[in-house]
Amino acid sequence: MSTFKQARVLITGGLGFIGSNLAIRMVERGARVTLIDAMIPSYGARTFNIDSIRDRVQVNFSDIREPYSVDYLVAEQDYIFCLAGQLSHIDSMRNPINDLQINCLGHLNVLESCRKHNPKVKLVLTSTRQVYGKPQYLPVNEQHPIEPVDINGIHKLAAEQYFQLYHKVYGIAATVLRLTNTYGPRMDLLSQDKGFTGIFLRKALLGEKIQLFDGGHQLRDFNAIDDVLDALEIAALGDHPGRIFNLGHHQPHSLREFVEILAQRLLFEIEDVPFPAERKAIDIGDYYGSYEDFHQATGWKPKIPLQKGLEQTIDFYEEHLQHYLKSHRKDV
Ligand SMILES: NC(=O)c1ccc[n+]([C@@H]2O[C@H](COP(=O)([O-])OP(=O)(O)OC[C@H]3O[C@@H](n4cnc5c(N)ncnc54)[C@H](O)[C@@H]3O)[C@@H](O)[C@H]2O)c1
Repeated sequence: MSTFKQARVLITGGLGFIGSNLAIRMVERGARVTLIDAMIPSYGARTFNIDSIRDRVQVNFSDIREPYSVDYLVAEQDYIFCLAGQLSHIDSMRNPINDLQINCLGHLNVLESCRKHNPKVKLVLTSTRQVYGKPQYLPVNEQHPIEPVDINGIHKLAAEQYFQLYHKVYGIAATVLRLTNTYGPRMDLLSQDKGFTGIFLRKALLGEKIQLFDGGHQLRDFNAIDDVLDALEIAALGDHPGRIFNLGHHQPHSLREFVEILAQRLLFEIEDVPFPAERKAIDIGDYYGSYEDFHQATGWKPKIPLQKGLEQTIDFYEEHLQHYLKSHRKDV
């Protein structure tokens, strides 16, 4: 991946979970890295996430909804990874306008700035499997019908469409990856509404009871962060502008299995409870995706099994947990 050496790389959402891990990877590659993050309370941003590279990256605490700073920051970049986002499905239903502003307006600002000031840049957007809605067949490939079951899925889909349109109309090289459940060091453990992986991990690390809805038999595919970083690098360096690819894992696991792997290392109680109505209404049942298109196009496939990835994640939090149990304003 020597192509990133000396490359100018901008990461939006760069102090969040995936953004900060990518920043560390890019610094290792010798890139000149700038991070934008609005440090939105209750999202995944932490200054501790970039502790090991703090003096080797430029950090800009600004908001991608703000066109003037984005105009300035996108100019002269070689690669932009568009990772800033509102992730919570349930929050998107409670506060749809906020989700619209972050997941649509914010990305549109970045695209507009690129069109005006840096049309030769290469962009990668992280979208989500949530755009498919409830699977009609498994594994879900890119030909699966698109029927989002919540506001977040609709806005992520709109963002994908913006990226495709800017490629078609303005020739801006933009590739979209639809991520599935991603986990690993530096993931947000505090959010109550951003998905079960962070919640289960926090409870397991603290020895608190984990509740499984309807037995926890729902299947998911899980990608370890290092596999996702490989995919982001490959997408940026590859020549597939305008394409949308699933990530995924060939070995799905139930939520119960996820918790049972945690229980091999950590001591906590498991309780079976009925599905709460608010969550059931937007639950997608079993999901696992096919990454065959991305594999065919680039050779990428996930290398890390859930067991190994979770062990590495637990190792990280056993050392650094105190930084992930406080609000991001007090995380140093
Ligand atoms: N983590 C997953 O399992 C997963 C799954 C599917 C898709 N994704 C996508 O990947 C991306 C990164 O996710 P993550 O897990 O790192 O989340 P995260 O919450 O840890 O990071 C997102 C970051 O974006 C920042 N941000 C939000 N709005 C912003 C704005 N307007 N301007 C500047 N910064 C802003 C937040 O402060 C936060 O640091 C998101 O777009 C998400 O939708 C993640």
